Amino acid sequence: MNHKQNFQWKKMTMGTCYYPEHWKEELWAEDLDRMLDAGITVVRIAEFAWNKVEPTEGRFEFGFFDRFLDLCEQKGMNVIFGTPTATPPAWLTEKYPEVLNAAKDGVLYRHGGRKHYNYNAPVYRKLSARIVEKEAEHYGRHPAIVGWQIDNELNCEANEFYSEADSAAFRVFLEEKYGTLEALNEAWGTVFWNQTYTDWKEIHVPRPTLNKGINPHQHLDYYRFISDSTLKYCGMQAEIIRRYRKPGDFIMTNGMFRNVDNHRMEKDCLDVYLYDSYPSFAFGLNRDPKAADDLNDRKWTMHLNEVRSVCPHFGIMEQQSGANGWTTRMEGPAPRPGQLTLWAMQSVAQGADFISFFRWRTCTVGSEIYWHGILDYDNRDNRKLAEVKDFYKKLKSIDAVCGAKNVAAFALIKDYDNEWDTEVDVWHLRVAEKSEKEIFAASELYHTPYDIVYLQEDSELSDLANYPVVIYPHPVIMDESRARLLEKYVDQGGVLVIGCRSGYKDMNGRCVMMPQPGLLQKITGSDVRDFTFESPAEEAVWAKLRGDGAEAKIEMPVFNDILEPLDGAEALAVYGNSYYAGKAAITERKLGAGKAIHFGSTFSRKNLNWLFAYLGIKEPFADVADVPDTLETVMREKEGRRYLFVLNFQPYAVEFTLRKKARLLYTKEEAQGRQKLPAFGTAVYEVSVD
Ligand code: GLA
Repeated sequence: MNHKQNFQWKKMTMGTCYYPEHWKEELWAEDLDRMLDAGITVVRIAEFAWNKVEPTEGRFEFGFFDRFLDLCEQKGMNVIFGTPTATPPAWLTEKYPEVLNAAKDGVLYRHGGRKHYNYNAPVYRKLSARIVEKEAEHYGRHPAIVGWQIDNELNCEANEFYSEADSAAFRVFLEEKYGTLEALNEAWGTVFWNQTYTDWKEIHVPRPTLNKGINPHQHLDYYRFISDSTLKYCGMQAEIIRRYRKPGDFIMTNGMFRNVDNHRMEKDCLDVYLYDSYPSFAFGLNRDPKAADDLNDRKWTMHLNEVRSVCPHFGIMEQQSGANGWTTRMEGPAPRPGQLTLWAMQSVAQGADFISFFRWRTCTVGSEIYWHGILDYDNRDNRKLAEVKDFYKKLKSIDAVCGAKNVAAFALIKDYDNEWDTEVDVWHLRVAEKSEKEIFAASELYHTPYDIVYLQEDSELSDLANYPVVIYPHPVIMDESRARLLEKYVDQGGVLVIGCRSGYKDMNGRCVMMPQPGLLQKITGSDVRDFTFESPAEEAVWAKLRGDGAEAKIEMPVFNDILEPLDGAEALAVYGNSYYAGKAAITERKLGAGKAIHFGSTFSRKNLNWLFAYLGIKEPFADVADVPDTLETVMREKEGRRYLFVLNFQPYAVEFTLRKKARLLYTKEEAQGRQKLPAFGTAVYEVSVD
């Protein structure tokens, strides 16, 4: 059996998503020719086509995809083959309704949409394993195939599961975790509101309750359970495909969705991780009007950054090429001229070396007649196809960037326990959401790029040590091993920054009876003597830097830890107003070769402006280019060469200055001094290192 491998593209590659079953066979050859002419050398197929291979239970027919794959081989087109489990067929759900997922009240989701299954029904696991094995066995050696996709978007559409099969599997998960009901009752604090369990059968996945009352500890385990179920299902398929695939063919899935540990999934099951990027959502009708300053489509950089933390050399399986919507939803307008390229380059800038556009041609039937592809129903050449061709030229001109690493000024630390805690605790959610969004905004506006690092059970000092600064905004949940790792990081010279609300829960989400920030106190030397969230009815709270004039106000929004420095820590700033005026707002403590900062509120673009400067991490490429905040800059680096991406998300031209000599890779022209990017324009420079 060949084993999990780490797959990396060797040169920039372009693809598209194609559905041979949606079109007359006579169209296939012409479609493939037109794709190849545009620079598309990979198609992803088959991920919703169970019926084409198993039209009735146990009857397998391989001819349809044999014909398509043979044609691809003949034309020189490469194929990523998707397993079809995202859409179980009608014959299956009719005969085995226990495979269906349910809403929280237990009502089953019926046939007619997609992803209507659950991961835990034994019969669905069996039938999934069989179709995957049949497909892998039959198509696995086909020369046109270069990779395999597992399912489609695991945990998209539904990321919560409430079927009977899920309750049964949840009990098994809990029995393995806790061993005894006493241990479970203790961990879940069931003494509160008389929730004590006396038999495993009394335990269910969450069900409707009155007035939003839940057991948060049960829910935390429930999200861990969903992740575990997703990983097992994905792992089962990967293990089968690995037995049949050709050496070198990769196994991937297209993420990134909630309630799954994507990092563990990538490590345990996949050779490479891909993402589906649709920045036009930012301009859709469902847009939150309050989010006017939320950077719109630039926000996709935040998602892509997270994808890079899962897999440094990822690809995009579905890159937006047209307007998005279903017959039941209007999601996002068509990319304006230039935006298709801009959004694809945004993906490349963040680390993608493979860009596959969704989809070749818009479907003429079904829910997704408005999820537009490159070509429209009329099948004529259009401006989108012309832009794809132009993008291809640009992509090939930056082939040297393939495999290059993104340069980061600091790391943002996250972990799944805290992420899932935000789903059960709105007090946690409020600070976490605000800080993450603002850290991203500050990074964009001040051209201070970061990596995201997830702390996992097997995290090591080397995962952090290369970053001069790490910001762990609100580690509400903390355990000994993470605290020890952070201490080691600081000790060897790192700078750790934590925000308010740190360290007051254990791994079960129970509050710890110790001074906050709990286990982190021995690193920060800070003591939370009092705390409160800010009332919208009161004046905004601010802090004053020690020794500075009153004009040096630092905003301390949303929530405040009122601090006291202990054990060699000192106050960098004190609160300037409210009933805690004069008390420490930001503390700093030197420890070993590094230091730890406790920032007593959430982060905002304004207070990060000060913090980035104080930490000496602001605008690391200022020597290379002077760029206004309306443009995004990204640096990738490989074999001693540095590549600067400058992306204009604005509908108007923007100027900037190259301070060093650079080469515009699209044209190979030398550039220096004042430059102008047109509306939605992009540029990639090789920056001289001298
Ligand atoms: C996801 C899926 C695609 C397509 C689009 C639009 O990204 O992977 O199959 O359905 O959504 O809904």
